[in-house]
Amino acid sequence: MKYTRADFPKDFLFGVATSAYQIEGHAQGGAGQNHWDTFAASPGNVARGENGDLACDHLNRFPQDFDLVRDAGFDCYRFSTSWARVLPEGRGQVNQAGLDYYDRLADALLERNIRPCATLYHWELPSPLSDLGGWRNRDIAEWFADFTEVIMGRIGDRMYSVAPINEPWCVSWLSHFDGHHAPGLRDIRATARAMHHVLLAHGRAIESMRSLGMSNLGAVFNLEWAEPADDSPKARQAADLYDGIYNRFFLGGVFNKAYPDNVLKGLEPYLPSGWQNDFDTIGAPVDWCGLNYYTRKLIAPDDTAWPSLKEVPGPLPKTQMGWEIEPTALTRFLTRAKQEYTGDLPIYVTENGMASPERQQDEDRIDYLNQHLKAVQAALDEDVPVKGYFIWSLLDNYEWAFGYEKRFGLVDVDFETLERTPKASYNALKTVLTGGTVSLPLAQPAGAIRAHWNLVADIGGTNTRLGVVSDGKLTDLRKYPTGTLPELLEAFHSLRDEIGTDPRAVVAAGAGPVKDGTIQLTNAHLDLPERDIGRVTGAQHTYVINDFTAAAWSVAEISGDEVEVLQGATEPPTGTRLVVGPGTGLGVGALLYSEGRYHTASGEGGHVGLSPRHADEVEIFRAARHIAPDCFFDDSLTIEAEMFLSGTGLPILYRAAGMAAGLADTSVRSAREILEDARTNNDPIARRASHLFTTHLGAVMGDLAVAFMPIGGVFLVGGVAKKNRWLFKDAFRDAFNAGGRFSDLRRSMNLYVSEQDEFGIVGANNFCKSALAR
Ligand code: FCB
Repeated sequence: MKYTRADFPKDFLFGVATSAYQIEGHAQGGAGQNHWDTFAASPGNVARGENGDLACDHLNRFPQDFDLVRDAGFDCYRFSTSWARVLPEGRGQVNQAGLDYYDRLADALLERNIRPCATLYHWELPSPLSDLGGWRNRDIAEWFADFTEVIMGRIGDRMYSVAPINEPWCVSWLSHFDGHHAPGLRDIRATARAMHHVLLAHGRAIESMRSLGMSNLGAVFNLEWAEPADDSPKARQAADLYDGIYNRFFLGGVFNKAYPDNVLKGLEPYLPSGWQNDFDTIGAPVDWCGLNYYTRKLIAPDDTAWPSLKEVPGPLPKTQMGWEIEPTALTRFLTRAKQEYTGDLPIYVTENGMASPERQQDEDRIDYLNQHLKAVQAALDEDVPVKGYFIWSLLDNYEWAFGYEKRFGLVDVDFETLERTPKASYNALKTVLTGGTVSLPLAQPAGAIRAHWNLVADIGGTNTRLGVVSDGKLTDLRKYPTGTLPELLEAFHSLRDEIGTDPRAVVAAGAGPVKDGTIQLTNAHLDLPERDIGRVTGAQHTYVINDFTAAAWSVAEISGDEVEVLQGATEPPTGTRLVVGPGTGLGVGALLYSEGRYHTASGEGGHVGLSPRHADEVEIFRAARHIAPDCFFDDSLTIEAEMFLSGTGLPILYRAAGMAAGLADTSVRSAREILEDARTNNDPIARRASHLFTTHLGAVMGDLAVAFMPIGGVFLVGGVAKKNRWLFKDAFRDAFNAGGRFSDLRRSMNLYVSEQDEFGIVGANNFCKSALAR
């Protein structure tokens, strides 16, 4: 090599780059299918139909590969994380083996004093997301932000730097217009959407890493210098458009919050509506800019539809890819990036290198690297803040549509035996890079990464509880007066400020109907929109849910120690669960179990009918008709269940029982007083009423259970049950089981009383976990 470390600034970083699909071996380790798997499996797309199933088997050989990185004296290793390895479906369920792999990879780099430089997406979209339109679908920005949180929540603390997306031009234009890469489309509308969404996803990922507390975040662009094929104005115009599409669109979006006019002329009709409003996200500030540079192109006008241009062969020496070698364009790009886009931000050459058929004596590569290092030197001389240079690539690997034939590695890989052999270029670099040290940190500052937390709320008429959830567990619970809407929002805001970071999600449960993202809190007399919660907490995900939805969710993870078993299995089995909760009203809900997860169904179960179960109850029901005529079903003796079986209903039942016993209208008493008198055996009417209460509740639950067949158990939850455990014993269970020819079936069911404290908060937390995993 013509250069050594001493020829570069003291803290100039030398690195080597790879990407997941090109080296890991995607068929291994539980990764989900991605669009490169299927693209490669479709004839005509990839040379010899080769795919990344095994590639370099880096998944199993990374320790030895990292020894090579260390031994050559590199400061940094740029790698990418495979989305489908971490989330096989693209969303939801995590592949633990995949996360563990990247965790070990991060540690293995740091053990060798190599800075881990991550790219979150290097072209391998999980197939289930591709099915939903992939980069054409705006939702991809959120899917990607969620993936970012999952992977960086695990390894972000050990990353030196992170960039969301490798080469947005390739992700969009090359793959959706040229059809050269997966998904292989040739469609201008798909292209325009992908170009915009890829930048939006970049911005959302930056935002989500900032909210984790991460720093040293950047963006990586690939650039090709566009040279007019001749001096004609038409050729100049064509080259300028090529430059606009390839280079200025992406740099301009991220750094100047604008797209070039000449590109908009052709693409605007196809961009998603409202694209102009996304630039604050797209342009979220970054800490550095990465440029990948390989070649230039000669561009001539062409007689086609827009963009009406074509590449023509140039006269310069070429690599195995057929790409012209033009190092001076790298200098021009570096100076231009500083002038037009990045100013004082650090710039890295994040990829540069060449494919060569030389498997050992790759003098051509040494020459190529020397020429490009010279180009970097020239930019440094012009005061461009270039801070590092990464060579593509460590290993010969899967060169996408070209398969394994094009060899970019400093280290040769025999794809039969997977043996690694350093080439002459590797040894030359080793000579000039070893020995020096760079004083920059290896990873994120200690403690920079904040654990995720979620905020859960149980909003009552008078009081509100706010819970802090870290790592899925409730770590703190506070009580506030519910107050007015501004007071309630202030409570959310002050908790957020006390913790010091935005929660990832907020789930607020309360009594009342939910409509269009707003809950009408009937007891607190206020309307609480999700939007307001998002505003005061900064949470990315906000949900308002009905309190009975929360009650149903409270049993989603319930275990044997949190229930009293009235009959059946000591450990509640997994499966659909029926939840009945007498409180102020009578809540009935269910957790339906399907495809490995729970879903909520909550209805107005309190309004099923209740009729006399014995002749001697008839008078009581008759009396109730005088008290609450509206609550009876037509002229029958059937009353809405809630009018007896709740905190509000029990006083009606008590008065009716009193009237039926021939007492003058008994004084109005609260449910609490009635149950207390019944328990202490002070008042025969109270005993009668509470017996009716428990047996009718048992019977209704048994009837509902037959309708639902809840394998996962029938659960009694709620305020009344919690405070009056004595009431839910044999008589309750016998009533549950009394079912004519279905008595045996009812007896075979698992029946529990939940002993959970704070079931609203527990339910909000379980709901939150499930919503975030969706
Ligand atoms: C870049 C890609 C990389 C590799 C090189 C040759 O555009 O980022 O994966 O294919 O080209």
